[in-house]
Amino acid sequence: MSPSTSIHGMWSTRLAFILAASGSAVGLGNVWRFPYTAGEYGGGAFVLVYLLCVACIGIPIMMAEVMIGRRGRQSPINTMRTLASQEGKTPAWSLLGWMGILCAFLILSFYSVIAGWTLAYMVRAGAGVFTGIDAAASDALFNAFVGNAEALLAWHTIFMVLTVLVVARGVASGLEQAVRWMMPALFVLLLVMVAYAALNGDLGGALRYLFQPDFAELGDKAGAAILSAMGQAFFSLSLGMGAIMIYGSYLKSDASIAQNTIIIAAMDTLVALLAGLAIFPIVFAHGLEPAAGPGLVFKTLPIAFGEMPGGSFFGALFFLLLVFAAWTSSISLLEPIVAYLVENRGFSRVRASVLSGTGAWLLGIACLLSLNAWSEYTLLGKGVLDLFDFLTANILLPLGGILIAVFAGWVLPRRASVDELGMGEGLGYRLWRLLVRYVAPLAVAVVLLNALGVLPAIGQV
Ligand code: TRP
Repeated sequence: MSPSTSIHGMWSTRLAFILAASGSAVGLGNVWRFPYTAGEYGGGAFVLVYLLCVACIGIPIMMAEVMIGRRGRQSPINTMRTLASQEGKTPAWSLLGWMGILCAFLILSFYSVIAGWTLAYMVRAGAGVFTGIDAAASDALFNAFVGNAEALLAWHTIFMVLTVLVVARGVASGLEQAVRWMMPALFVLLLVMVAYAALNGDLGGALRYLFQPDFAELGDKAGAAILSAMGQAFFSLSLGMGAIMIYGSYLKSDASIAQNTIIIAAMDTLVALLAGLAIFPIVFAHGLEPAAGPGLVFKTLPIAFGEMPGGSFFGALFFLLLVFAAWTSSISLLEPIVAYLVENRGFSRVRASVLSGTGAWLLGIACLLSLNAWSEYTLLGKGVLDLFDFLTANILLPLGGILIAVFAGWVLPRRASVDELGMGEGLGYRLWRLLVRYVAPLAVAVVLLNALGVLPAIGQV
């Protein structure tokens, strides 16, 4: 029999779970990563593959991850070990949890650096730095900023402290309160930005760019584009490393997993598309480059804030909300590590949070130095930050996703998933089982193998 509560606490209501899980999902991945990755691969075709990945791979795996978490009600490492041995399978399944912890450290390290950019831009916007700025000046401002290691370090440190503070306070009082009002506020402000961009930018160009797929444009980059779209889906939905699993472990037993998951994935996707619609009209109206890389959002939005009335206020507010979105995501990255340290090492929550936060902070320093002092050190043509990003989103999270799908579809008996999902055994359940047993693991495996060059078919990374 699986436990009905977790020792770390429980979400007080079903809404709290939706808010927390969508707080985890919605973050820099939507507003910072999605637009520039789409821009790197020419827009429409990428967006279409991304949407397919969310629907056919992301949603079924998210259901599986929440389900496993709720059944185990422990940190991902212990949940996987317990559930596997209940089925008479090898405890080595706990390796999935360990891989998740590695991912958590790697992601959190660069995530905190980028969240630091957001903090800095909030202050700059508020101080009126962007007033009247043109594309060239915005570009120069950004480049000067990422060249300044001390500034990056200061903001990275502040953000990591914020993350540790919330996680140290615990699930109900820390995590839950944080997401309650930030999510709706971010949503409203994004709508304001989209409206502004539509009225003042090139909306038609942006719509064509994002929603008119042109596969010919991908050319020999198709394999890399598909890998990146899939990686983006895992990253944006917080899948494949145990964050959603641990959040599922705090979910009450009677909540509908399918319904909640679909709501979360829909919100996450909507926010990403809205971010695209806020940014690309400005990109095209100002003749900017969609493939500007990780700086895209930070180079484009200041131009809009600089020319709109009340831009200092709206700019500061926008970046503030983005900080909050990043914050509610970063806490979900730290939570699986902290839960493990509390369960297996007997640490207090506070000690576990400080210790793991410090670890990620140290790794983050390597990430931020890769943008300036260490910029000539590269592996596979990538600096530390890019490498961590690529390794996690495009390789480790999809691998974790395969394992989660296989575990939920093949290791857990049918009865267990029928009971846990509580949606009967009708069409919905059968579709989920088909996706999680065959479609998701095979599709992810093919994309990964292709990217590694094992399959010569679609063109390599
Ligand atoms: N999904 C978040 C975003 O889009 C980032 C994130 C939080 C994450 N938790 C995660 C990514 C777990 C991968 C795995 O910004």
